[in-house]
Amino acid sequence: MVFVGLDCLQQTAEHMLPRLFRDYVAGGAHGEVTVLANRNAFKKWAIVPRCLCNVSQVSISTQWLDYECAAPFMLAPVGFLGMMRYGADFMAARASAKTKIPFCVSTFSITALEDICAVEGAHVLAQIYVFRDREITRDMINRARQCGVSTLVLTVDTPITPLRPRDEKNGFRRLTHPSLRQLVSFAQAWRWSLGMMRHGMPVLGNLQPYGMGRTLLEQAKTAASQIDPSLTWKDLEWLRAQWGGKLVVKGVMHPDDAVQCVAVGADSVMVSNHGGRQLDPAPATLDVLPDIVASIGPAGSVVMDSGIRRGADVVCALAQGSSLVGLGRPLAWALAAGGEAALIEMIGGLQGEIRDIMALAGITSIEKLHAAGTTLLRRC
Ligand SMILES: Cc1cc2nc3c(=O)[nH]c(=O)nc-3n(C[C@H](O)[C@H](O)[C@H](O)COP(=O)(O)O)c2cc1C
Repeated sequence: MVFVGLDCLQQTAEHMLPRLFRDYVAGGAHGEVTVLANRNAFKKWAIVPRCLCNVSQVSISTQWLDYECAAPFMLAPVGFLGMMRYGADFMAARASAKTKIPFCVSTFSITALEDICAVEGAHVLAQIYVFRDREITRDMINRARQCGVSTLVLTVDTPITPLRPRDEKNGFRRLTHPSLRQLVSFAQAWRWSLGMMRHGMPVLGNLQPYGMGRTLLEQAKTAASQIDPSLTWKDLEWLRAQWGGKLVVKGVMHPDDAVQCVAVGADSVMVSNHGGRQLDPAPATLDVLPDIVASIGPAGSVVMDSGIRRGADVVCALAQGSSLVGLGRPLAWALAAGGEAALIEMIGGLQGEIRDIMALAGITSIEKLHAAGTTLLRRC
């Protein structure tokens, strides 16, 4: 499968997946205004071509926290990723190892963190939530430590899960057994169903030790409601004290919050609106990025996600101060469409686009891209 852009990959993925998971990946909260805003924000920017700059050598590798990244992007945490096809979590880990692109494992992972970390060479980060039962969180932190994970990503933009109309229609997080409508959709997606079901019904393996339900649908219903809505800065301080490794706070959209995260000891903040799946309408991440970068100054590390689909988006975000960007849905679509090979193809395709754009803009390294900043861009 040759990567010619994400539209094609998305189409193939959506053709393969049953409705429940097709909608789960694509959908957003309420009116899905933010999902669209995230994309539209990139359309406001063009990258100005430069000439006669000797771009015979362009390097797109970069260092972020403890990670030597082959390109300035990472695979963002996606819950239920292992439902994209059988073994998808392992495929992402192997792709991470082969391409040197970090992979952040979701708390809501089908495969346990321990098994994913056993994939040789995978560049793994562990995403966690603070649960109502702090013992679960403490145990997840310990597990990450025992797996040798160097970076925890604490997601803070989900004190509640808002209504996501597509999931609501499908009964995701509401039903504990598949409805007739879902069974029909599973039958229609017969290739997916055969691939999945011949290995038995999957569950959220990462949460198995905590008894949040016996089946995947039961776990889906229970797990989100276990995230503690009463979280405050005190809890971030508590978590910082528990974890000696690198800490990223994900889901920061306000400069004051970013400043506070750094004050509490976060090593990086991740500007994210959860891909438009939480507050709707929230601003596009690209629109709030410059203020957040300015608020924490050059000493702070900012990464962003939500709406990144092309190499140009990556360059645009980096020019506006992001050290790295994250890809959520593209990871899921690639795995659903063609597994590990499609994911590696997508990563390579994006790398190619970033390299092309940097060369045509007269930039030969990520360091120089950061130094040039917004002088590379023209608002249109
Ligand atoms: C299907 C799906 C599941 C997600 N699950 C999680 C999760 O478990 N933890 C988390 O921190 N973020 C989760 N996210 C948010 C992503 O990490 C990321 O912020 C978002 O997808 C970026 O937007 P994009 O999909 O437009 O790239 C999820 C996103 C999607 C699409």
